[in-house]
Amino acid sequence: MKEIKNFIHQNKERLINELIELLKIPSVSADTAYSQDVIDTSEAVKLSLEKAGCDKVEICETDGYPIVYGEKIIDPNLPTVLVYGHYDVQPPDPIELWTSPPFEPVIKTTELHPEGAIFARGACDDKGQMYMHVKAVEYMIANNCLPCNVKFMIEGEEEVGSVNLKTFVENNTEKLKNDVILISDTGMISNQQPSITTGLRGLSYVEVEVTGPNRDLHSGLYGGAVANPINILSKMIASLHDENNHITIPGFYDKVEELSMEERAEMAKAPFDIEEYKKALDLNDVYGEAGYVTNERNAIRPTLDVNGIWGGYTGEGAKTVIPSKAFAKISMRLVPNQDWEEITELFTKHFLTIAPKGVKVKVTPHHGGQGYVTPIDSIGYKAANMAYTETFGIPAIPVRSGGSIPIVALFEKELKSKIILMGFGLDSDAIHSPNEHFGVFNYLKGIETIPLFYKYFVELSK
Ligand code: BES
Ligand code: MN
Ligand code: MN
Repeated sequence: MKEIKNFIHQNKERLINELIELLKIPSVSADTAYSQDVIDTSEAVKLSLEKAGCDKVEICETDGYPIVYGEKIIDPNLPTVLVYGHYDVQPPDPIELWTSPPFEPVIKTTELHPEGAIFARGACDDKGQMYMHVKAVEYMIANNCLPCNVKFMIEGEEEVGSVNLKTFVENNTEKLKNDVILISDTGMISNQQPSITTGLRGLSYVEVEVTGPNRDLHSGLYGGAVANPINILSKMIASLHDENNHITIPGFYDKVEELSMEERAEMAKAPFDIEEYKKALDLNDVYGEAGYVTNERNAIRPTLDVNGIWGGYTGEGAKTVIPSKAFAKISMRLVPNQDWEEITELFTKHFLTIAPKGVKVKVTPHHGGQGYVTPIDSIGYKAANMAYTETFGIPAIPVRSGGSIPIVALFEKELKSKIILMGFGLDSDAIHSPNEHFGVFNYLKGIETIPLFYKYFVELSK
């Protein structure tokens, strides 16, 4: 495929500048202050699909942010690839830690990106990776080498749980009919070693509230005589892990799929340097569940983490007070076979049980989703591997990721096709963090690799 290389070479500036324009719109789905920007971004995505040569492009309204749908059907008898991605982004906070403003994209070099990386919120997750598909299809249509049909479904609520996409998929199974679902919203091992994500963790996200006295109290007059909700909440949270860092919620591990020693040995072959890992995070040591190594702890094992905790006085100076309430946001990453709704129930029941009489506890579920694993002998996986092998000069390694894309399991259930997770980001690209970036190399490599996936998928489907 010399042609695609030429196309990228000749259009490099334009490909980068178009992505930069898209990154300038702050499509933060979690914060209603940005709602017009999120809507504007859906319009920009629609225009890009029209420009790419899709025949039918629609903004599909939902109860939340719109889904952009586009298609190019060249022959109903040929296979159809459904591309999924998201145009919404995480909030940029804490904004003061960005070295350049999150919605004013700039290209800077880093140790891992000597050719430069685009710094902006959403550069990697997921505008940059989604846009690679738009540009790859644009290339294929313009050069008459699109070998099959393609459909796009780009949503604006992934970062807040894809609540309305679920209904959209359930109500549009015919429209979304496909032979394979292609997603670039994950990462790969390194720019020298591509990998294909074969698993995602599920998620259960809850918020807890502990109430003690009906008002904030003087900590001298009442201290020692009533339950302090923050003390209690801290104790309750601490008790959720035992000394081996196992989660103590009864029934939590009942359905966890245990990997065989062979499977674990296979996983251990992926290149990984624990010293570099610690150095990159400024850690003296790693931490986690006894009996498992780092790459198992963050991929094939379920976890429970506090994402935020608050209550009482946090302002300047000291105020002596026993707060009336304490709060925490808690997420549990789940592995295949664990059902997120069941886990949410187990958590709720347990959390209410361990509360002492002196406080009231409320648990509010936020959102969740099932985990996902996919075999490596499907046509889609093979096509992806052939594509990576050709553009990177080395086969891809299958890797189970610790992240979640809750809608993926639903895609398989409703649309009955395999999902191929062709990610081009790096773990160090700082998604969800200050200074998110996406390598120019990665962006262009994605555009180069995607058309090969189509080519090999159609060949293998014959
Ligand atoms: N693209 C990420 C998920 C991801 C990143 C998976 C890297 C694997 C590797 C996605 O946008 C995301 O952030 N998902 C959320 C869940 C969602 C419900 C907010 C997550 O994993 O926290
Ligand atoms: Mn994403
Ligand atoms: Mn994300």
